[in-house]
Amino acid sequence: MSRVAAQQVESRFREKFPSSASLYERAIELFPSGVTHDSRFLKPFPVYVDQAVGSHKTDRDGNDLIDYWVGHGALLLGHSHPAVVEAVQQQVGRSTHPGACHELELEWGERVQQLVPSAERMRFTNSGTEATLMALRVTRIVTGRTKVLKFAGHFHGWHDQLIPAASPPHDDSGYATPGVTEGVFGDLVIVPPNDLEAAAAAIQEHRPACVIHEGNGARWGVVPARAEFLQGLRQLTADNDTLLILDEVITGFRVHPGGFQAHCDIVPDMTTMAKVLAGGLPGGCLAGRADLLDVLAFGNPLGKKMKHPGTFNANPLSAAAGRAALEVVATGEPSRIASERAAALRQGLNEVFAARGVGWVAYGDFSAIKIIPGYDGPARDGDDWIPHDGDYRRLDVKFDDDLGHAFRCALLLQGVDWMGWAGSTSAAHTDEDVDATVDAFARAIDLLVADGMIAE
Ligand SMILES: Cc1ncc(COP(=O)(O)O)c(C=O)c1O
Repeated sequence: MSRVAAQQVESRFREKFPSSASLYERAIELFPSGVTHDSRFLKPFPVYVDQAVGSHKTDRDGNDLIDYWVGHGALLLGHSHPAVVEAVQQQVGRSTHPGACHELELEWGERVQQLVPSAERMRFTNSGTEATLMALRVTRIVTGRTKVLKFAGHFHGWHDQLIPAASPPHDDSGYATPGVTEGVFGDLVIVPPNDLEAAAAAIQEHRPACVIHEGNGARWGVVPARAEFLQGLRQLTADNDTLLILDEVITGFRVHPGGFQAHCDIVPDMTTMAKVLAGGLPGGCLAGRADLLDVLAFGNPLGKKMKHPGTFNANPLSAAAGRAALEVVATGEPSRIASERAAALRQGLNEVFAARGVGWVAYGDFSAIKIIPGYDGPARDGDDWIPHDGDYRRLDVKFDDDLGHAFRCALLLQGVDWMGWAGSTSAAHTDEDVDATVDAFARAIDLLVADGMIAE
């Protein structure tokens, strides 16, 4: 928040969150930029949370905050869901790491198998990043090919092979990622999102081992992908003997108990999952066709065994939390409620933006709410509308940094913890939360206008 004008927000922020200010002084002596995840970075300092229940968090100064981070997407059921808490409490005294096979991993895996159409076999990992890394290697062993086709803006975790082109700017210079070797980068084929023709041409030209697609589109649907596109992509990859990986780390169990693939009525060859999968504890998984996952089996017919160790794979606390969470997810209610609350919020926010005349817009699918400040494209037309006619070069852009920090601080001052320019609901969010959030946005915008950060 370097603009001199943003003084009101900053001074009030320092007043309201004094404990966080002093904790951050310790943090900057420990962690680069004082944070342990890039997106938690906030100027002048992030807010330190002490406790969280349902849709609310309480910070170190006792401030109540309505939460739209939902555990980076992991908490579809909200914070501290009683079934998850009980499952973890029961397990923690029994064994946190038996260093052995255990029954909970079976119950967890069987639940995944029941819910997710493509999950004939699976292996648990510790994160979504590990799951996508594993998926690529499986496809390379099976096909003997090396290239991977991904879509511009799609995020699949931070490992070398898929981090390039995971965020804007969408040009070749923006895609070269510091620390990723040219060789690794050269194995990637990057095509525009939602462009079946470009994908078809790239498959013909490069013969990739696989195509990987992020659930319902770039970074939680910033550039939304619709069922028709996924159906087309499934057909295209099948026709061209190319494996299709659907990365459902966000969408898995969130948009539908069976994930985005169930919503689209497709069966990808393999699926990566994490977040909701482990009920709010660390955990991921690669699931898919039995003949593909077979490369992980000893003595498999290919004669090439893919190594897969991992100290905490299927650890019993994650298994207990995941099994408990997926039992609730299976009813379909959590995804329905979370999506309903997000739609109400998108509507309410757009009314506030129109009333304040700030030219902002809210959009998004399922339980995601995306905001574009200073929107200048075609007018909004219903809840399934996509801004800028879906043009990813206009939709997926980096907004003003100073405004972004000021906006988050202004919202925190009004009791809302918003995740950058996006937020997500859980099944614990209530109608009252939605109304309170809409009011909080109105007051936050007034503050930003008063501080000269935005014009009415
Ligand atoms: C679609 C997608 N894939 C993979 C990942 C990486 O998962 P993790 O953070 O568990 O490594 C994420 C994380 O946000 C994600 O959104």
